[in-house]
Amino acid sequence: MQLSSLKIIITGGAQGMGAAFARHLHAAGASVACGDVAEDKLAELPEGVHRRRLDVSSEADCEDFVAWAHERMGGLNALINNAGILRDGLLVRRDKATGEVKKLGAAEWNAVIGVNLTGATFMVREVVAKMVATDQRPGVIVNMSSVARHGNRGQSNYVSAKAALAANTVTWAREFAAFGVRVGAVAPGMVETPMTQGMNQKARDALVAAIPVGRIGTTDDLWLAVRFVLECDYFNGRTIDVDGGLAM
Ligand SMILES: NC(=O)c1ccc[n+]([C@@H]2O[C@H](COP(=O)([O-])OP(=O)(O)OC[C@H]3O[C@@H](n4cnc5c(N)ncnc54)[C@H](O)[C@@H]3O)[C@@H](O)[C@H]2O)c1
Repeated sequence: MQLSSLKIIITGGAQGMGAAFARHLHAAGASVACGDVAEDKLAELPEGVHRRRLDVSSEADCEDFVAWAHERMGGLNALINNAGILRDGLLVRRDKATGEVKKLGAAEWNAVIGVNLTGATFMVREVVAKMVATDQRPGVIVNMSSVARHGNRGQSNYVSAKAALAANTVTWAREFAAFGVRVGAVAPGMVETPMTQGMNQKARDALVAAIPVGRIGTTDDLWLAVRFVLECDYFNGRTIDVDGGLAM
C-alpha cells in the first residue's frame, strides 16, 4: 500500500519507535492516530497527528480507541501494533545476600502478558473487525515482536508474548486473507529508545558488544523494515529480524 493512502493506528505512539514511525508516516502524507498511556508525551507529536489516551490492556479502551480513530481519520486500513513493556526477572533465583529462593511475581508476569500479548491481540481483533464491518480492503497489520522470541534469560514473560505475536502473525495472515488483510511482523534486536535507555548499564554494554554490526539499532533502522511491510503487498505472515546480526 502507498504510505500516503494509509489511515493508520499506532499503539505506544508517544515515544521511542512508535513516535518515530508516526513522524515518518505523517511526513509521507498518511493519516495517523496514536494511542498511548503516556498522555504527556503524546502532546509532543507533530500537529495533525491524531492522539488519545489508550491502555491496550483494557478491552474497552481498545474498542473505544478504534471507533474514535476510524471516525477521526474517515476510515482505517492499517495498524502498527507497537505498545510494549518490560518487567524482567528470572523465573527462579537465589538471593545472593540472604540465600532466599525468589520467584518471578504474578504481577510482573500478568503485566507483560496483559500489554504485549492480550493488548496486542485485542487491537488486531478490533481493527480487523472494523475493516470487515466497513468492507475496507486492502488492510495491513504490523506486529512488533522481538528477537527475544527465540528465548532470553530473565525474560520469560516478554519472550512468551513476543513469540506468540510472531506465531499469531501466521495465524492471522491465514485467517484474514479472505478479508484482504495482510499481517507481518518486525522483530528488533536492541534499539536506542527509552525502553533500552532504562536498562542496567552493564547489561546494555554487554549486549551492544555482542552485536556483529558494532552498534545499537536506531528507530530509523526499524522504520525501513516497518515501511517495507506496509508497502510490499506481497509480504505476508512473516517476521523480519532487524538486529544487526545479534540473534543469528
Ligand atoms: N527497544 C528495543 O530494543 C526493542 C527490542 C525489541 C522489541 N521492542 C519492541 O518494540 C516496541 C516499541 O519499543 P520501544 O523501544 O519504542 O519502547 P518504549 O518503551 O520507548 O515505547 C513503548 C511505548 O508503549 C507505551 N505503552 C506501554 N504500555 C502501554 C499500554 N498499556 N497501552 C498503550 N501504550 C502503552 C509506552 O508508554 C511507550 O510510549 C515494543 O513492543 C517493544 O517490546 C523493542
